[in-house]
Amino acid sequence: MSLGCAVFASGNGSNFQALINRKEAGDLDVDFKLFIGNNSKAGSFEIARKEGIKAVHMAPSHYKTEKEYNAKLMNILDGENIELIILAGYMKKLPSELVHKFRHRIVNIHPGLLPAFGGKGMYGSKVHQAVLDYGAKVTGITVHFVDEQYDHGPVILQKTVNVEDTDDVNSLAKRVLVVEHDNYWKAIKAIAQKKITIEGRRVFCNV
Ligand code: GRF
Repeated sequence: MSLGCAVFASGNGSNFQALINRKEAGDLDVDFKLFIGNNSKAGSFEIARKEGIKAVHMAPSHYKTEKEYNAKLMNILDGENIELIILAGYMKKLPSELVHKFRHRIVNIHPGLLPAFGGKGMYGSKVHQAVLDYGAKVTGITVHFVDEQYDHGPVILQKTVNVEDTDDVNSLAKRVLVVEHDNYWKAIKAIAQKKITIEGRRVFCNV
C-alpha cells in the first residue's frame, strides 16, 4: 500500500510539484493525502488544489494561542492516517509535540550542505548568499529527518553542487534547486520502501 503522506509548504512548491511528477511517472509510490500551508496564496497551495489534494490553511493568526493552533494541527493529522510528513519549503517551526510523535517520520530538504549554512534564519537566497560570501567552492543539498532543532536531524542524503567563479545568488539557487528536484524523491522512495535504518545520527539506505 502507498505511504500516506502530508506535505507542508509555504512557498512556490517546486519541490512539491517535482514529487507529484515522480509519483505520476511511477517512480514514487506515495499517497499525498494532505497538504498543510500557512499561505493560501502561495504556489504550493495552488498545486495542492489543482491536484485535488485536501489542502488546509493553517495560519497561526487564526488561533488565539499557540496551544490551540498546535492542537488543531495534531487533530487534522490524526484524522488522515499520515505516515510521513514531507516539508517542502515550510517556513514555520513545527510544534515539539508533533516532532516527538512523528520521530523519524518527518523529512526536510535544505538548499545547502548541513551543518554548514543552516539553522534559524538560514533559508532561500540567504543560504546561497552566505555560501558565496564565505567563498565556499562546493555547496549542495541535504535531505534529513526533522528533530527539535532547525536543520539538525539525521542526514538521509546529500548531493554536492560546485560553486563557479561566475556564480551569483540567482545562478547558484537555480542549479541547487534542480538538484533538489532530482533527489528529494529518492529519499522518500527509500522510506516508502522501508529501506532505511537509523543508528543514532547515521542513516543507512539499504538500496
Ligand atoms: C527549497 O530550496 C528547499 O530546499 C527549502 O525551501 C525551498 C522551497 O522551494 N526548504 P520550493 O517552494 O519547493 O520551490
